[in-house]
Amino acid sequence: MSLLDNTVALITGAARGIGRAIADEFAREGANLVIFDRAFPEDFEAAAAEWRALGRTVIARQVDITDAANVEKNVEETIAECGRIDILVNNAGITRDKLLMRMADEDWDMVMTVNLKGSFLMTRAVSKAMMRQRAGKIINISSVVGVMGNAGQSNYSASKAGLIGFTKSIAKELAGRNITVNAIAPGYIETEMTAVLSEEQRAAFMGVIPLKRGGTPADVARAAAFLASKNSDYITGQVLCVDGGMIM
Ligand code: NAI
Repeated sequence: MSLLDNTVALITGAARGIGRAIADEFAREGANLVIFDRAFPEDFEAAAAEWRALGRTVIARQVDITDAANVEKNVEETIAECGRIDILVNNAGITRDKLLMRMADEDWDMVMTVNLKGSFLMTRAVSKAMMRQRAGKIINISSVVGVMGNAGQSNYSASKAGLIGFTKSIAKELAGRNITVNAIAPGYIETEMTAVLSEEQRAAFMGVIPLKRGGTPADVARAAAFLASKNSDYITGQVLCVDGGMIM
């Protein structure tokens, strides 16, 4: 018996990075996968083939989570195909880092639209099915900077802080239907998103991480598997920091 046996998990932005690591962990724990991403890199098919070899169903759809009509349509089609969605991981996210004085309206809007509105659109579409099922697990991938702020990331931090407020509100709304909603706040995780940071920025992070290492996507994925499983049934509205102790 594995943690997520026979469940269906929809993960956004799982074509690469943390989302792909979550898909990987979930597949090994028995979940069937539905992946919405706006772009799939060439090596994605190899990962999907490994999950299928484990006996899992894998549905990968090109969906931009900011497009409301497209989100609704693809979620409906997915439910028709799979019968249910047990787990939603709102993982897709972007950065457009700039100091406030240099931040253009589009930098602000883009980040808010993908990170916050995209998660809202996905949650609204999927929670309908979860409410009918009277069961579900929603996990929102926020960030430590949504809790503590970060110079040069006012748009991103605001979107991730917004996601925490969204998590807590939806947790209260959906608790009566046996749906738990939690956030994970990763710290410094080594992915393509953080590969663009300068050595100076990287050193600054290492200086404030008590465990003295960057996190891996697998570190985040294992926390997500816990929050997606029955082991977390009495936990809702929480923010789980996976950050090597960066914020306590
Ligand atoms: P990444 O950039 O490697 O992957 C993000 C994925 O989301 C990509 O596959 C991309 O195509 C997809 N995506 C972006 N916009 C989309 C849209 N509109 N519709 C559908 N898919 C879209 O990023 P990474 O590092 O794997 O981050 C994943 C999540 O974790 C993000 O929400 C990020 O903000 C969060 N996070 C990452 C941290 C890090 O250190 N890497 C730290 C804290 C949070």
